Amino acid sequence: MKFFIDTANLKDIEEANDLGVLDGVTTNPSLMAKEGITGAQNILDHYLKICELVDGDVSAEVIATDFEGMIAEGEKLAALHPQIVVKIPMIKEGVKAIKYFSNKGIKTNCTLVFSVGQALLAAKAGATYVSPFIGRLDDVSTDGMVLIEDIRLIYDNYGFETQILAASVRNVMHIINCAKTGSDVITGPLSAIEGLLKHPLTDIGLATFLADYQKGNS
Ligand code: E4P
Repeated sequence: MKFFIDTANLKDIEEANDLGVLDGVTTNPSLMAKEGITGAQNILDHYLKICELVDGDVSAEVIATDFEGMIAEGEKLAALHPQIVVKIPMIKEGVKAIKYFSNKGIKTNCTLVFSVGQALLAAKAGATYVSPFIGRLDDVSTDGMVLIEDIRLIYDNYGFETQILAASVRNVMHIINCAKTGSDVITGPLSAIEGLLKHPLTDIGLATFLADYQKGNS
């Protein structure tokens, strides 16, 4: 199972990378805006900085919503760095663009996926990754994990190679449930990734070990 961090914050990316468990990065226009990255050239420069920090796939999302626009933008993004994965929304023009990039051997991440039908279409078009947004489904009282299970079942039934990239992961339980249901990748914030290492009994146990050591060695 791969761990991607879902942010455009360089400090968080560095911190997750230093942990030694990071396999890639996902970004989106909202995450870029949150970091104050605006203007076409600044955005491209920021993607380059991310690629230089991390050894793995870096999803960069297109802004265009028409086929020609997505192709032009996606080709520019893909030419920027070999680690770039072109992130394309699950809309009609997006499916055509995914197919186009798939034929050219350019990696894609089909984003904003909320149903199993959308995931099936993304796989048929040859997407490298499909991004079901589990947290946003949970937000509207729909179990996001059921979507992951259904996609896993269908992809396995037909041997689709598209990787399930569970997105909109918000917490530790999301990551664990994604692991149980066979997601290929999760993408989440640093807090969710670091949350995996925390347990109060670990802290209490370590404090006791260190205190006992001090007693015997002081
Ligand atoms: C995925 O690629 C998206 O960038 C992201 O996971 C969305 O997460 P959010 O629902 O927490 O904004």
